[in-house]
Amino acid sequence: MTPHWDRLRARFEATQDRSILSLFDQPGRATSFNAQAGDMLFDYSKTNIDADTRKALFTLVEAAEVAAKRDAMFSGAPINDTEGRAVLHTALRNLDGGPVLVDGQDVMPGVRDTLARMRSYADLVRSGPITDVVNIGIGGSDLGPAMAVAALSPYHDGPRCHFVSNVDGAHIADTLRGLDAKTTLVIVASKTFTTIETMTNARTAKAWMQEHGGDAASQFAALSTAEDKTRDFGIPAERVFGFEDWVGGRYSMWGPIGLSLMIAIGPAAFDAFLRGGQAMDTHFRQADVSENLPMLLSLVGIWHAQVCGYASRAVLPYDQRLSRLPDYFQQLEMESNGKGVQMSGAVVDVDSGPIVWGAAGTNGQHAFYQLIHQGTRVVPCEFMIAADGHEPDLMHHHQLLVANCLAQSEALMRGRSLDEARAKMEAAGFTGEELERQARHRVFAGNRPSVTLAYPTLDPFTLGQIIALYEHRVFVEGVILGINSFDQWGVELGKELATSLQPIVEGEQDASGKDGSTKALVDFIHRHQA
Ligand code: F6P
Repeated sequence: MTPHWDRLRARFEATQDRSILSLFDQPGRATSFNAQAGDMLFDYSKTNIDADTRKALFTLVEAAEVAAKRDAMFSGAPINDTEGRAVLHTALRNLDGGPVLVDGQDVMPGVRDTLARMRSYADLVRSGPITDVVNIGIGGSDLGPAMAVAALSPYHDGPRCHFVSNVDGAHIADTLRGLDAKTTLVIVASKTFTTIETMTNARTAKAWMQEHGGDAASQFAALSTAEDKTRDFGIPAERVFGFEDWVGGRYSMWGPIGLSLMIAIGPAAFDAFLRGGQAMDTHFRQADVSENLPMLLSLVGIWHAQVCGYASRAVLPYDQRLSRLPDYFQQLEMESNGKGVQMSGAVVDVDSGPIVWGAAGTNGQHAFYQLIHQGTRVVPCEFMIAADGHEPDLMHHHQLLVANCLAQSEALMRGRSLDEARAKMEAAGFTGEELERQARHRVFAGNRPSVTLAYPTLDPFTLGQIIALYEHRVFVEGVILGINSFDQWGVELGKELATSLQPIVEGEQDASGKDGSTKALVDFIHRHQA
């Protein structure tokens, strides 16, 4: 624990009972606790962070040498040091930037070449007889394109896109039902081309295509770093779009893993998405910490999670088309920073990354906001809202959406006192003890922190900005916590045990060696399997 963290803890102790609303008594609160990147506004004035706390948070950035580590990432240094790899998803959106060297070799010609091949292939698919595209992948090979295809539906003028991820046969069965095998393209998206869920689904899709008159030889494409394995699966090289191990799975939608998105919205709109990401990279590299959105977002997150001790964070896009964004951010944040060991091997001595969850507004308001407003746990909220929607004829819907979004952050901060609740109940005709009892149920503690990200409209460029903003936020947080945000060893044990359980579940091996609970569950399943 360094003096920087001690100072922040002391700031928390000193200010935890202060009202956030009272901070607005100081002139300029709203304008000095927000920042802009291009035409995107990040408002963090509805938090308990004041100028002294902010100064103390900035010292974390300096102490962890975030700027130097950021520059090392962009320059292709092997900062993923438990896997000995560079971290260069930013090179995939470096549309007009200079060379990027990995081991002395410029990777940009390869990136540009693959992008050009993706563009021609996407154009071909968009102009041909293909009506449906099925992307088979999981985790980073699914969540990004699935989220983005939904987000950019107003720009979707290509074939329909479907996403199959779960190994549960229900997922692929429900997806393929009703599709025409003769006009369906299957994209097998897997960085490693070994992931059991994806390979099982890919084989099932191949059998379906063969059985239903499609041509698996020409209607399959692959997105992977393992080109030899794609060949073994029977996908010819001209429909394999490769990438390098310096692109992490959850950071990969900017390259080949984004092919389904490119087919959906077209290469020009995909370019705009890349440009949005690139614009955020430039901002992240150039803006001072006090104006730097990824750094500020990260510091607000650290204040809430590691200093105040709030265990979770809700992502609340008031944008129906971003309904998959909480899932996407869940992997981005929790697979990156859900770790208990630092780069050095030492134990992380503060809490690791928070639990991220959420849903699109206003749906969440009618589900879990009760807990956010009156539960005993504080859940910092991250609201997102576009100034404009894509439905000019339904502007009254959009105004209601905006009003709801702003109302929630105001209500969380302002709350409702017992006196205010009493006055309300009195006006409703209650008296005496019943008034008192009823009033207590209508009190809102308030003083619950939130931030709001506002943008003009959800177009491809803006989506690119948002995704890159959150990627960099996770990076900054990881650097400050001393974590390697780019490995994911925590997913391995479950995979290994699933492999060892498979023959037991299939009845080819007995369950000796397994614990009593696992044996009993296997036994129950065997007794009830048809
Ligand atoms: O869950 C572990 C993981 O490796 C993720 O990091 C990754 O996005 C996902 O599995 C899929 O991996 P692949 O693209 O290699 O199939």
